[in-house]
Amino acid sequence: MSGFSFAAVVDSGVGGLTVLRQLRRQYPHCNFVYFADSAHCPYGTQSDAEIFSRVSTVVDWLVQNGANSVVLACNTASVFADRLRSMFPLPIYDVVTPTCRLAARLAQGDVAVLATDATVRSGIYVRHLAALGVASRQYACSALVPFAEHNAVRTDECRHAVRLALAELQHSPPDAVILGCTHFPLLLNVMRPYIGHAQAVQCVTDFVPVQHDTAAKGKCLYLTSGDPVSVTASAQFARAKFVHVDV
Ligand code: DGL
Repeated sequence: MSGFSFAAVVDSGVGGLTVLRQLRRQYPHCNFVYFADSAHCPYGTQSDAEIFSRVSTVVDWLVQNGANSVVLACNTASVFADRLRSMFPLPIYDVVTPTCRLAARLAQGDVAVLATDATVRSGIYVRHLAALGVASRQYACSALVPFAEHNAVRTDECRHAVRLALAELQHSPPDAVILGCTHFPLLLNVMRPYIGHAQAVQCVTDFVPVQHDTAAKGKCLYLTSGDPVSVTASAQFARAKFVHVDV
């Protein structure tokens, strides 16, 4: 990727494409490299040490290959954003902080956070929201990630898993639900009956391009540590064609 200046967008799999879609709309002249760490997905059921070690390896590889900035389009990785910022000399954006600010603007009342087991364990959403004066409760939903990752959203198994994970929400409806895992917007139709009228808040970043050449047409490369054929199949919604890289 020599001579190609780009912002890297990272997730454990295809979920971060929901963040990339917003970024490409917002910055159509910016070059992006999307990295799906599919060989190591899911992150959310791993230990903190495993997640941090893997995410720092991926960020290091992207930096070595010319990234001018990194967007952690993954909440589970965003837990480690401060540690990563202290290690790498380039802008690193997370999704948790800006998503909490957005949720606090949209809902002052009761907020439910749906996230991976590791994100819930970290308590990062509850802490950030409390600092903004927003009370929240969190639900560990790692069991839902593989359905989005493996293009199995329209299956009975997926509907069953969503029912198990979210039944409680129906009994005590929140004002807003943060989809605190970037895979979850892909499950929103299945989740909707449990979310009811609550506002569904999708992850955002406060990314600002390092280079913003308005004469350039933004390019995007899609890389994965996993099998590019199956990742491409799961990423149909984004029309993304993945290439394998050894990282
Ligand atoms: N998409 C990721 C997130 O936003 C994590 C999914 C996983 O690998 O467990 O947290």
